[in-house]
This record gives sequence, structure tokens and C-alpha cells, in this order.
Amino acid sequence: MDQIRLEKLTRDTVDDVLKLRVSKEQKSFVAKNSDSIIDAYFAMTEDKKSVYIFGIYNGKKPVGFLMISYNCDWRENLDFAKNSYYIWRFMIDRRYQGNGYGRAALKLAIDFVRTAPCGKAEYCWLSYEPENEIARKLYLSMGFEEKLELCKEDEEIPAVLKL
Ligand SMILES: CC(C)(COP(=O)(O)OP(=O)(O)OC[C@H]1O[C@@H](n2cnc3c(N)ncnc32)[C@H](O)[C@@H]1OP(=O)(O)O)[C@@H](O)C(=O)NCCC(=O)NCCS
Repeated sequence: MDQIRLEKLTRDTVDDVLKLRVSKEQKSFVAKNSDSIIDAYFAMTEDKKSVYIFGIYNGKKPVGFLMISYNCDWRENLDFAKNSYYIWRFMIDRRYQGNGYGRAALKLAIDFVRTAPCGKAEYCWLSYEPENEIARKLYLSMGFEEKLELCKEDEEIPAVLKL
């Protein structure tokens, strides 16, 4: 592994992340990166949210995509979401998975959130499909706590990290 880095999305890097894909079996776990960028656009312009969009790079090679937002209130029963950071989208391209890049990038994401770009927050949270065992294990091993009790059937499972 070279050095895993997060690079803010720009006109120059957008084509890099648009080329990244998960495997066929993982398609239900995360939106396409193009759709994520569209979602971010509307969150910023219509909902006035802050969204941080990054390419994940191994040295110069683009290997993944990460999107972080703040104060996302689109799931009503999640009290901790208010004024918290939300890891909204996260993927490593299918060709590069299983090399430690996901873990390294998640650590960088948490470091970034701890710099409090939108102000100090108590929590960082995310959610995942119940069948997404690889992501679940990764998040729990990084200190996220699963909130199964807040999860209705057919909903993604939320998990929270105290910052
Ligand atoms: C979840 C994801 C980002 C992890 O990225 P990654 O680069 O493969 O992760 P890493 O290589 O850092 O591995 C993290 C852990 O998962 C395990 N892992 C990774 N791929 C695995 C596989 N195919 N089978 C079993 N375990 C696997 C690793 O062994 C590692 O565990 P360890 O540190 O205890 O050994 C990646 O699998 C992915 O993009 N999945 C599809 C999209 C997705 O689900 N995003 C998250 C939505 S909530």
C-alpha cells in the first residue's frame, strides 16, 4: 500500500471517481458515485447542508469514494444525527478491495471529522444494509456502536461513533 489519501473532489478529479465500481453483489449496498454526487448537489443547494466529497487515492491511483455530511435529519428517529457528522457514502472499487484501503480511508474520514469542519460534534454516524457483513465488521472494529433498536424492518442499520 502506498499512502492512502483523501482528495477533495474537483473538476480535475471527478472523472477518476466516476470510473469506480463495486461488484455486482454489492450494488445494493451503496449508490453509484454519479448518483451520490447528484444527491450531494441537492443536499447542498436545496437543503443547505454541508457535504464533503472525496476521492480515495492510493498514491496517485483513485481507489474509492467518500462523502461526509453534517446534521442530516432525514431519518426522524435518530436523535444523535442532529449536529453530528454522517458518513453518507463510502466505497472502494471492486478491483482494490481487501487490501486495507477501506480501513485506512475510514480512519482518515474520522480524523477529518475530528477537525470539526462544521463545528464540534458529539458523534459521527453511518448506516449499512443488514447483509453487508464486511462493512458492519469494519465499522464495529473501528469503534462504531450498532443501534439495532432504532432500525425498522427493511431499513439500514445505524451505527454511532462517539467523537
Ligand atoms: C466496505 C468496503 C468499503 C471495505 O473496503 P476494503 O478496502 O475492501 O476494506 P479493507 O481491505 O480495509 O478490509 C476491512 C476488513 O474487511 C475484511 N474484508 C474485506 N474484503 C473482504 C472480503 N471480500 N471477504 C471477507 N472479508 C473482507 C478485511 O479482512 C478487513 O478485516 P481485518 O482488518 O479484520 O482483516 C468495501 O468492501 C466496499 O466498497 N464495499 C461495497 C460498498 C459498501 O458496502 N460500502 C459501505 C456502505 S455502508
